[in-house]
Amino acid sequence: MVPTSKPVATGTCAPVAIRAENLTKEFKLAHHAYASLKGLLLSFLPRRVEHVVALRQVSFTIYKGETVGIIGRNGSGKSTLLGIIARVYRPTAGIVEVHGRVAPLLELGAGFHPDLTGLENIYFNGVILGLTRKQVAERIDAIVQFAELESYIDAPIRTYSSGMLMRLGFAIAAHVDADILLVDEVLAVGDARFQQKCYDKIAQFQREGRTILFVSHDMEAIMQVARRALWLHRGELRADGDAPTVVQEYLHAMQRETD
Ligand SMILES: Nc1ncnc2c1ncn2[C@@H]1O[C@H](COP(=O)(O)OP(=O)(O)OP(=O)(O)O)[C@@H](O)[C@H]1O
Ligand SMILES: [Mg+2]
Repeated sequence: MVPTSKPVATGTCAPVAIRAENLTKEFKLAHHAYASLKGLLLSFLPRRVEHVVALRQVSFTIYKGETVGIIGRNGSGKSTLLGIIARVYRPTAGIVEVHGRVAPLLELGAGFHPDLTGLENIYFNGVILGLTRKQVAERIDAIVQFAELESYIDAPIRTYSSGMLMRLGFAIAAHVDADILLVDEVLAVGDARFQQKCYDKIAQFQREGRTILFVSHDMEAIMQVARRALWLHRGELRADGDAPTVVQEYLHAMQRETD
């Protein structure tokens, strides 16, 4: 880790929201060689399996009420980290503790069923995220209104544009009383006005003391939303500290690579 960036002081003794200790995630990548007839004939041979270490011995503690930006180059492990916190992946080694209900906003359309309508997907996701059917029913209008998808809500999700998927995903995540919101880059596909609406909602969550993890390649957005940032580099935690310092270190490192 870069020694100059110190973890941000979070006040007295806020409870822990997320704690990772020596978190490691390894993916096995099996290479299939079926692209040619020769490949098919050779397929009885043992397949080459590559091990990708997406996260390596990552440790940090995030306290309740913090908003933490997560930055790093493509393939540095950001989405893998959120996936582990959302329990989509299990760590290969190490510990992750998550205290509170998580609303994950990961890849576009993740968790949606393409053949179900928008409305059916709201029920489906609301229940998966911990609400009762009655609670979902009470919030349906607010969710649809926030997403501004009234005229599309009875159409199957597979007919939605990327922006519409994001609107629905954000609207659901924003209405399930989550303690921890995970946002992986998705806001970028929204138009400027809807993005602003999402940032306003995020600001409201911050005032309410919720915890937010925010992955983005937009450094302006990171600095606007988060006081603290984690920089992942090839699966390792390079820096953990106040957002402007970590962003500057990251941008300098990127600059050195292109020089
Ligand atoms: N399901 C998977 N199976 C195999 N390898 C994976 C899987 N998911 C991620 N990886 C690998 O893990 C590494 C980290 O990927 P990850 O998606 O976490 O990166 P990222 O920081 O989110 O990148 P980006 O900025 O492009 O979104 C990459 O090498 C990727 O190929
Ligand atoms: Mg990613």
